[in-house]
Amino acid sequence: MYPCTFRKLPMVFEHGDGYYYIVWETTCASGTPLLEWWIDLDNEYEGSRHVIEPWYKQIDSNHHRYTAILGPAESFPRIHYKIRNYKLSTKQYTINRLKNDGSVQILVIADNQNEPTTFRSVLSSSRKMYAKRQKYPNLILHVGDSIQSINKLSDWQTQLFAPMEDSGGFQHTTPLIFVPGNHDHDKRRGLDNRNYYMDMYHGIYSTDDLGSKPVANGSYHQFYHSISLGSARIIVLDAECPSKEQSEFLVSELQSSAFKNAHFRIVAIHIPPYIEFWDPYTWEHKGEKHWGEHVRLEYDNLFRQHGVDLVISGHQHNYQRSTIPRNRNSTAADTITYAIVGGAGGGLDLERVEDWNMYNVTYLDHHYVALDIDKSELRWTAYNVASSIVDHFSIVR
Ligand SMILES: [Fe+2]
Repeated sequence: MYPCTFRKLPMVFEHGDGYYYIVWETTCASGTPLLEWWIDLDNEYEGSRHVIEPWYKQIDSNHHRYTAILGPAESFPRIHYKIRNYKLSTKQYTINRLKNDGSVQILVIADNQNEPTTFRSVLSSSRKMYAKRQKYPNLILHVGDSIQSINKLSDWQTQLFAPMEDSGGFQHTTPLIFVPGNHDHDKRRGLDNRNYYMDMYHGIYSTDDLGSKPVANGSYHQFYHSISLGSARIIVLDAECPSKEQSEFLVSELQSSAFKNAHFRIVAIHIPPYIEFWDPYTWEHKGEKHWGEHVRLEYDNLFRQHGVDLVISGHQHNYQRSTIPRNRNSTAADTITYAIVGGAGGGLDLERVEDWNMYNVTYLDHHYVALDIDKSELRWTAYNVASSIVDHFSIVR
C-alpha cells in the first residue's frame, strides 16, 4: 500500500482583487486538513492568523482534492500560508504581492499541453531570467491549454502540476491568472464540464459565493472576470464559451470606471483575433478556421472602440506581435497590440494559413514573456528557451 502523501502541493490562483483560490491533492483522505494564513507588514509584525477548513472532493480512490479561498488580503504586501493537520503538513509559503511602488511583474505563458519536457525547459529558463534580475514574478498569466485532455488525471499530473513542481514550484507562491483554452474544456462544452481542478472563478462576482463551495461536482463554471494589477486592469475572457452573459460582461467591464481609469488596459483570451499559422488541412477542411471567429468579429471591435492597449492570446503555437493604429484615423501614439504567446511547450505551428499583413514580429520557436508594469510604463519582453530576447516593446504614458 502506498503511503498517504501530497500528490499536488498547493497551487495558488488569483480569485479577484484580494482573494486567492488554493487547490491541493493527497493520495488518501487526509483527516481534516486546515489552511492557515496570515499577513505581515514588514517581516516583523505578523497579523492575526486565519484558519480555514477546505472543501473536499474525492475524485477517485487515490485522488483527494482540497480547495480553499483565502482573503481578503486587502493591500498587504505579503501573505503567508501553510496547510496542516495531524498527518500531513506543508512548509510555510509566502505570496509576495505588488511591490510598494505599485509595480507588478507577470510571467506570461500559454500552450504547454502535451509536451512536459519543453515546458520544464521554458519554466527553468524563466526562473534563471528572473534570478538574474533578482526579482521573481508576482503573478503568472497562463493564457490557456495547460493540458491535452481534461478527462485524464494523468495529463493533469504529468503536463501541468509535476513540471511546475520540478521547475521550482512557482505555483506555491506565485498566483496564476488562468485563461481557459480549448483543451481546458470538456469537448462538449456542456453544463457538466468535467474539469477536475480549474473551477476557481465560479461565483467570483457574488460576495456571498466567496464563502461557499466553489463548484459542486459536475456543475459548470465560468472563467470570465477582471482584476486590477497595479496601474493595469486585465479582462479575462473564455474564447471557448461565447455567451450573451460573457458579451454583456465584456461591454459592462469596458465601460466601467475601473477599466477606463486604468493606466494600461489589457485583455487575455486564448484564441487570438488574427491567426496566421495552423495545420493547413484542419484549418481548411475540418472547419478550424472558424473556431473563435467571434473573437475577431464581435470582441475585437469592442477592444478597439474602448481603448484596449494589449490583447494577449495563445492557441497558435509560436510567437507573433502586432502593434498597429487602433483605428483608421488614430494618431501614431494611439495603438493596439496583439500578442500571441503559444510557446510554452506544445508542438509548434510552422505552416502559414493566412496573411493579415499586420504582424511586426514572428518567431517560430518556444518562448515565454516577462510583462512588467509600473505607474507610467508597460514593458513586454519575449524570451526564447536560451533566455535570449526575441522581442521587446513598451508603452510609456
Ligand atoms: Fe494549444
